[in-house]
Amino acid sequence: MNDFPPALLGGTPAITVPGPHFTWPPIEDADQCAVAAQLETAVSIPDRSGIVADLEDALASYLGVRHVVTTCTGTAALHSMYAAAGVGPGDEVIVPALTFHATATPLFHLGAHPVLADVDDRGRLDLDDAARRITARTKAVVTVHLWGLPEDMDALVSFAEAHGLMLLEDGSHAHGATWNHQMTGTFGVASAFSLNGPKPLSAGEGGFVATDDTELYYRVLLHGQYNKRCRREIPDSHPLARFAVTGMGLKLRIHPLAAALARAQLTRLDHYLTGRQEIADRMRAALDGVPGIRVPHVPVSARPSWYALPLRYEPADLEGLPLERFLDAVRAEGATEADRPGSTCPLGTHPLFQAPGALLPDYADRQGPAAGDFPAAGHVHATTFKLPVWHREEDARLADAYTAAITKVVSHAKDLL
Ligand SMILES: Cc1ncc(COP(=O)(O)O)c(C=O)c1O
Repeated sequence: MNDFPPALLGGTPAITVPGPHFTWPPIEDADQCAVAAQLETAVSIPDRSGIVADLEDALASYLGVRHVVTTCTGTAALHSMYAAAGVGPGDEVIVPALTFHATATPLFHLGAHPVLADVDDRGRLDLDDAARRITARTKAVVTVHLWGLPEDMDALVSFAEAHGLMLLEDGSHAHGATWNHQMTGTFGVASAFSLNGPKPLSAGEGGFVATDDTELYYRVLLHGQYNKRCRREIPDSHPLARFAVTGMGLKLRIHPLAAALARAQLTRLDHYLTGRQEIADRMRAALDGVPGIRVPHVPVSARPSWYALPLRYEPADLEGLPLERFLDAVRAEGATEADRPGSTCPLGTHPLFQAPGALLPDYADRQGPAAGDFPAAGHVHATTFKLPVWHREEDARLADAYTAAITKVVSHAKDLL
């Protein structure tokens, strides 16, 4: 195959199977039946009953936590998690500078300040930079397991303990991923997960908060699950029980049809993860040592969920061929799902982080990050592209075709300049 000219220059594409090559979640009869049955049962659940209770119980048992509260989105779950953790006006929370914006944006709605800290060369939170940004107002640090690769949780737990900070997790890419055999989302005081479309565990739209802390759980309910849930789950003797009817005024409940889909998907999550592990290993092995491509390092303690396979691109190894041109050539080979991360990018580049006051009056005097404040986040983002990670054995050939397409383009880098 490598003898042909690249497809971008008129050669034969390496992959001729028409796309899309990856869609998520896989919808089976069991999902159809679960959602159809839910339509007949209840399409609005104001308390912790039916499919909502089933899903929350199943998630709590899967993660090994005491409490799970489902929400309408992952963004809402993060909002409830921060509110319930007592993050309020003037508080600072350390957030990795490279993540999806919703890891941080709910903080703006609590009067708190996301304090961005740079990442290291692998895209993990740089704990030295994070330590430099701690002030007397720093309340918490939130960690994100980007692309489903667990962060070094030994280091993060020690960091949070050493600095007296609450450890919170955004597990939105990492359902079922583990660090030292412990589930991500169970290392801190609380965690928030998205159940949005392409996530390893999908409800279409949805999210949840997980915690062992019963007081925090009550406050999650008060934040976004007012009335019946609060009345039935918060003991009458609790000092906040009198707020049950209104809670904090927000309604962030999951839709029962979404809960039904997530519950059906959860029974197959481990099967997805095992299949992804095999295919990710296969793609990493095929690309290891290919000039210009760096495969992700997976520490022995980590079992990723492989939300995607993030690859690093080194133009210097390929005569300076720009990443965009490289990806155009890869896609011309038919590897149409090869992609650069879009909205998961350095947060300091978003206008909302640069000038929050334009939309949020309370932040009028808040100055955003300066260009170049987070050089590693910028560099990691500028040199990352990603591939889907399939889970079915029959897709191994497609995965091989993708890695072969990349190898072919690499071998023609000079011609593409
Ligand atoms: C890391 C991360 N956190 C939070 C979210 C927000 O989740 P949702 O889209 O369900 O609101 C996402 C969504 O892509 C995400 O990738």
